[in-house]
Amino acid sequence: MKSRPKVSLVGAGNIGSTIAHIIAQNEIADLVMLDVVEGMPQGKALDLFEAAPVDGYDVKIIGTNSYEDTQGSDVIVITAGITRKPGMSRDDLLATNAKIMKDVAKNCATHSPNAKVIVVSNPLDVMTYVASSVSGYPRSSVMGMAGVLDSARFSSFVANEINVSVSDVNALVLGGHGDSMIPLIRYCTVGGVPVTNFLSENVLDEIVKRTRFAGGEIVSMLKTSAYYSPATAVVSMVKAILFDKRKVITCAAYLNGEYGLEDVYIGVPVILGKNGVEKIIEVELEDSEREELHNTATVIKEMIGKVS
Ligand code: NAI
Ligand code: 2OP
Repeated sequence: MKSRPKVSLVGAGNIGSTIAHIIAQNEIADLVMLDVVEGMPQGKALDLFEAAPVDGYDVKIIGTNSYEDTQGSDVIVITAGITRKPGMSRDDLLATNAKIMKDVAKNCATHSPNAKVIVVSNPLDVMTYVASSVSGYPRSSVMGMAGVLDSARFSSFVANEINVSVSDVNALVLGGHGDSMIPLIRYCTVGGVPVTNFLSENVLDEIVKRTRFAGGEIVSMLKTSAYYSPATAVVSMVKAILFDKRKVITCAAYLNGEYGLEDVYIGVPVILGKNGVEKIIEVELEDSEREELHNTATVIKEMIGKVS
């Protein structure tokens, strides 16, 4: 009998290793860190294991280059791939990351046929579709992390502007994980009160703009992608699945008619639980938002076509 759930992190770079640290510190699951680079995941796993006595966490942590070690995972997080450098869009990563994703997703399915899979690699919506299609997992078992992060960015800017606790702000950002994402001001509340009670239209427009380009803002400073906030967002999804929290979050989910879209992964609000995406929530969109969502879906489909 397994003592704890098993989470495998495919890609043990910045996001993968930050996820490992958070999961270990909170004793959420036993961990496998897998990467193509020899020695690197083993070294990071050993480092995390040696930190355990100080923090008092008892999880098992394995570093590996072999999928055998991921056997029977409950959740797999895929961050494998290359990241944005200054001047690059998420879409510039398409060809390289699609090739990596196909190989990774097939290996995951072979060794952990019942896992729930969270894709993180960019371009996110396309990579999630690729992972789902080549792996044969049920569509609801595969999802992409972006909405939690994009909504958190929006919330953090709002909280900072009003000078209130970040935990009081509830925000909803849907659509593709790109510059055309759709932060929905009218669904944003602060302690249950509409955000428009606190901030002017101009300030909110600036926050929407900053949210859309928040990933790039960090890339321009860091020369690579953000990782603390993406890792934290992933862990909230891992917990929702492992503890069957039925949490309402936004993630890239497979649409089969919802929002008038078919056969595409894109960011929408869902209920996330032990079966993965338990339900897709359809919220009312204005005509311009619906048009933006459909335009983004068309771009995502074109990109899927290029790598299929
Ligand atoms: P990183 O470069 O630090 O780590 C990626 C790791 O993947 C590297 O260690 C690399 O050796 C490994 N890798 C490459 N090919 C592999 C393969 N075939 N099998 C196993 N491992 C392989 O990158 P980081 O910062 O962790 O970002 C990972 C991905 O996440 C990037 O594509 C980035 O654009 C994306 N990202 C997505 C976000 C989101 O909201 N969805 C937010 C931030 C980044
Ligand atoms: C981010 O949003 C680049 O997707 C990455 O930080």
